[in-house]
Amino acid sequence: MLTQDENELLTRVTHGAPMGRMMKQYWWIPAARSDNVQPDGKPLRVRLFGENYVAFRATNGKAGFFNEACPHRGASMALARNEDNALRCIYHGWKFNVDGKTVAVPTQPSNEAEYCKHVPLKHYPVRESAGIIWVWLGEGDEVPDFPKLPFIDLPAENMVVFRQKVNANWLQAVETTMDSAHLGVLHQSWLVGFGDIEYSSTNMAPIYHVAQKPYGFRYAAVRELKDHRNYVRTNAFIMPWYGIVSPNQAEIKGGSAFFSIPIDDENIWYWQITYRTEEKLVLNKTHHFTDADSWPPLPPGTPDDNWGQDREAMKNGHFTGFTQMLGTEDFAVIQSMGSIQDRTREHLGAGDGAVLAVRRCLANAVREFMGGKVPTLAKHEDIDYSVALPKSMVVEETLDWRTTL
Ligand code: FES
Ligand SMILES: [Fe+2]
Repeated sequence: MLTQDENELLTRVTHGAPMGRMMKQYWWIPAARSDNVQPDGKPLRVRLFGENYVAFRATNGKAGFFNEACPHRGASMALARNEDNALRCIYHGWKFNVDGKTVAVPTQPSNEAEYCKHVPLKHYPVRESAGIIWVWLGEGDEVPDFPKLPFIDLPAENMVVFRQKVNANWLQAVETTMDSAHLGVLHQSWLVGFGDIEYSSTNMAPIYHVAQKPYGFRYAAVRELKDHRNYVRTNAFIMPWYGIVSPNQAEIKGGSAFFSIPIDDENIWYWQITYRTEEKLVLNKTHHFTDADSWPPLPPGTPDDNWGQDREAMKNGHFTGFTQMLGTEDFAVIQSMGSIQDRTREHLGAGDGAVLAVRRCLANAVREFMGGKVPTLAKHEDIDYSVALPKSMVVEETLDWRTTL
């Protein structure tokens, strides 16, 4: 349980809230899929942390990221012409190149070149990797190191990337990602015949073992099986929003990364990357989307009809009545908690160890930030992200799980 102040501190990320300022200052933000923008194509409106931006791809293939409002009188740069490695505002023709320089102000009768130098276009550093356009929205010029997350330099055929817009605060989605205890309960109907992960349903009370790391923490969720072997899943939380979750079989090298990127305080893009470190990814039943910006499906109904839950399917054996996809079950519970979960009314137990560990990392970091320090978990130069490897295994009871962390 948190106090109201603690809940506000952890969840709010807009209007200058410390958590939002810290995230923007010290971490690169996944902003759009690379496929969302084409050379000289339509600029993409992007809303992050309650502010509006545009992403676009210039003639030369380079991605640019500007504030949405034209610095002249605020027309949307999403309406701009995208040509000659620049965006040209359609209102008065002011033109800004992909590197953020103002290159034409046709409404200026004299001294145009000089005038251009003083137009305060706000543009942001961009990187592209793993099929994602990443942006840095911090102040000043101390751009943080780009995180070498476990999937970052892999070939495109080794991964699948998709996302969904969800009406919920970013933290409750992160907490769900790291909450191993829900796996064998909420998703039990989906996990049947889905590799070792099926063992999650045979023991619903995993014991958590958490190891702090320079990027956040790693943990093992250990479930004792009926034959006295243990089913162990090791997952990692990487600040400030990445959950790296183990695959469904021991022999798989790779995992899934889930990240909840704030659109504002009450909405997120919930991203998923499933990846293999040493081979091509073979798609499974959770990967067959038609629209990579809208997957997995949202619950089909509104709160007034219980989010479209199918009670008939439940009578016929489906545990949740959300038969659309495994992720739909997550979205249903996340949204049902309210846009921002009231954590002053919760009642935590032994199954919530990873949730508590997430909150501890974030609370410590934001308090350091408010005290004027660089958060300890934001010292990217000290971090080896490649060691955040998720693993899934069934081991003899005598095997020490600690060797896996
Ligand atoms: S508002 Fe964009 S050029 Fe005038
Ligand atoms: Fe889930």
